[in-house]
Amino acid sequence: MRILFVSVEVSPFAKVGGLADVAGSLPKALQALGHDVRIAMPAYRMVVDDPRWRNRCILRPHNVRIGPAWVQTSWVRETMLEKVPVWLFGTDRWFDEVDRSERIYLPGEDQYLFLARAILDACKRLGWIPDVIHCNDWHTGFVPVLLRESGDIVFHRTASVFTIHNLAYQGEFGVEVLDRVGLPRSLFDMHRLETYGCVNFLKSACVYSEQVNTVSPTYAREIQTPEYGCRLEGLMAYLASQGRLSGILNGIDTEVFDPRTDPALPAHFGPHDLDGKQVCKDAVLREVGLEPIEGAPLMGVVSRLSSQKGMDLMIEAAEAMFALPAQLIVQGLGDPWLAQRYREMQKAFPRHFRYVEKFDAELAQRVYAGSDLFLMPSSFEPCGLGQMIALRYGTIPIVRRTGGLADTVFEGQNGFVFERRDLDEFLSAVRRAHSAYQIKEVWLKMVDRAMHGDYSWDKSAREYESLYQRAAKRRWDDLRQSLEAAGC
Ligand code: GLC
Repeated sequence: MRILFVSVEVSPFAKVGGLADVAGSLPKALQALGHDVRIAMPAYRMVVDDPRWRNRCILRPHNVRIGPAWVQTSWVRETMLEKVPVWLFGTDRWFDEVDRSERIYLPGEDQYLFLARAILDACKRLGWIPDVIHCNDWHTGFVPVLLRESGDIVFHRTASVFTIHNLAYQGEFGVEVLDRVGLPRSLFDMHRLETYGCVNFLKSACVYSEQVNTVSPTYAREIQTPEYGCRLEGLMAYLASQGRLSGILNGIDTEVFDPRTDPALPAHFGPHDLDGKQVCKDAVLREVGLEPIEGAPLMGVVSRLSSQKGMDLMIEAAEAMFALPAQLIVQGLGDPWLAQRYREMQKAFPRHFRYVEKFDAELAQRVYAGSDLFLMPSSFEPCGLGQMIALRYGTIPIVRRTGGLADTVFEGQNGFVFERRDLDEFLSAVRRAHSAYQIKEVWLKMVDRAMHGDYSWDKSAREYESLYQRAAKRRWDDLRQSLEAAGC
């Protein structure tokens, strides 16, 4: 199949969160299954100008009509993600000022409307018409809309698949969006582009895509409930009833995340040889300036600081956790009020706690490898990659039973799991982990199970393959029906 994978973050070119990791690894796994895969993303300056990502022009500047009163210059360059071609979409208005990942998400929707039109335009100009366009998160939401509403005959058989990486971000804008891209206001109804008075990019993508999925089976069920549905639970339940909503667990790049070879680590280790893990623990403690404490497990956190990630729970639990004893390293940036609380916490518990206030991918690897336990008490977690990286590095996760955490971490087997988002439940899971840590055979068995799990893309890439087939079939059936209805 010809598959075009669309994302505004793709690792290693530009990365804010887990979406980039998926966009940087799933396409490779699909290509390995024999598909003709390309990636489309914005031409951020930091990608185009970086000599590591040698790129060449494949479409010189030309005009693309975005709407009745809007023509925009567009050009396309191509770089490679190993053997997967990556199309970089540029214009004279956006993306050029993005010199680092933190600046990817500029406010507004026009750059995404441009991107959607420019992608479809480029497929035609380059004579490469995909069988499936696979879009990710709300920024790409207008691709499936324009694909169908433009009525362009060359795309009649192109199906779209939309993946929700986080339902909390939907992209809501005013009705004028439709005028700008030349769509009739009659489409502004609750069955198509309108949601609570706004044009909602994510909802629109779900309506127009043949198949919608999210990044774990549990999250696919959760988003059909008011607690997790972010006001779209009705739509999600409807899609599920039509066989159009599914959950496919993310994988991780097991070549990049491999404790036997990871170049960021001071020592290497594998399931049958754990000596290097102790070296990593001593080294990371030293690196952040903590003295080891006898019998204390080292707990690690690598995360965006937000209450979604349960980062406030850790502050409430601090005193009781450190008394066990236990030590903790938190690495990440995010909500300023949380960062402030962590700075205070470091002053209050200088022997037990370090807050590393920066984004440093290599140090993150050393935290994954050197810790005994990894904390992810998220209030919701569509999939979560941190727990899978931790497991692969023999670091036992403590998680809340939600989303992808519930699908990858199992109490007493490879981790510790709690149910309700409250201090007592969290602390009781930490205590269970602390006790297990004191009994060597129990602990080593858990570490062994964790490290032997399969976190690769192999299985999930095949599930995506059948999702694409289902999408293509639905497209074909719809097309046949409309031809029949038109008397052809
Ligand atoms: C989002 C979700 C996270 C998921 C990632 C990749 O960042 O919050 O749970 O793992 O997307 O799908």
